[in-house]
Amino acid sequence: MTCQETGNQATANRVTINEVGPRDGLQSQSRILPVAGRLRLIEALHGTGLARIEAGSFVSPKAVPAMAGTGSLLQSLPGRGEPGAAKVDYSVLVPNLKGYELAVEAGAESVTMVIYASETMARKNARMSMAEAERTAWQIIGLARDAGIEVIVIAAVSFGCPFEGEVPPGTLHGIAERFADADIHRLVLADTIGAANPAQVGDLLAPLAERHGVGLFGCHFHDTRAMALANVLAALQAGVRWFDSSIGGLGGCPFAPGASGNVATEDVAVMLQQMGFDTGIDFAALLAASDLATELTGTAPGGKVREWLRGQLGKTNQIASAMQACREDAK
Ligand code: COA
Ligand code: ZN
Repeated sequence: MTCQETGNQATANRVTINEVGPRDGLQSQSRILPVAGRLRLIEALHGTGLARIEAGSFVSPKAVPAMAGTGSLLQSLPGRGEPGAAKVDYSVLVPNLKGYELAVEAGAESVTMVIYASETMARKNARMSMAEAERTAWQIIGLARDAGIEVIVIAAVSFGCPFEGEVPPGTLHGIAERFADADIHRLVLADTIGAANPAQVGDLLAPLAERHGVGLFGCHFHDTRAMALANVLAALQAGVRWFDSSIGGLGGCPFAPGASGNVATEDVAVMLQQMGFDTGIDFAALLAASDLATELTGTAPGGKVREWLRGQLGKTNQIASAMQACREDAK
């Protein structure tokens, strides 16, 4: 489906949270989880009502050992082909054509191809130039169209580069201009190192949304400078309705020095819910997934809202048990 077809969704009350914890979250952990551990996290996330999960990446296992075995992980994804199971759209990240081919072999239905807003980052991450990465994205878009596979394009370091510093907005305008009419599901602007501020996010997105329609865009923020949630709000106010986030605030990029965790899914979900947006999230299940992320990795800090959420859910459970006790007494 092209972004143009989903354009109306962007103005609706529904916000899509794309959970990237199993990929962005786990890729740089010092504790490398076996496929079974990664699947446990995905199973917990599957039951939360999240619409989308980035399950892993097809990258060199020498470069990113934590993502080795994504092919076998894809064979056991929860809900796939099970009648009545919660509908979750899974995607996998690919940095090059080899990654795309491996993803297709493993049965991926959606791939996220990385392009770059700086030359140094392109070289460090994929040993390509920016133009080579874009050419590869186009190749993948063509192949995927014929194969009925969805493509998301993610532009790394859209708001600042760890090697080159500021990224001129013109770079992103150029990328958007080139990919606006591509057969892609979304163009996601990624703040890979958490350098963005809300004014910058609003200033970049307003003209992009006006020119291309905001349904083209998604945003991906890291919380390095404690502005990720404010950046989500700025993007939301510009009309963006797609956000990548990571359960428990897990995250970081092994090739981008200084990158810290992604904005925590629970923080985004609670903010959206309290603002009246529809996310479809079951908060008790989300809290359990966040606790599991911490248990499995030992590093996931948990969203800022996690303890408040625990308290609220505790109260709800107390009220539910008190009401149950009243009903029992009345019998
Ligand atoms: N999946 C699995 N293996 C891959 C691969 C992929 N997508 N791309 C390359 N490789 C393998 C090659 O087969 C080769 O293996 P070998 O040493 O056993 O022969 C090895 O990686 C190096 O290949 P080479 O062709 O020299 O490397 P490259 O220039 O094509 O680039 C990278 C390899 C940069 C793509 C690889 O290092 C990589 O996957 N980096 C991870 C990027 C990443 O995940 N960043 C974080 C998320 S954005
Ligand atoms: Zn990221």
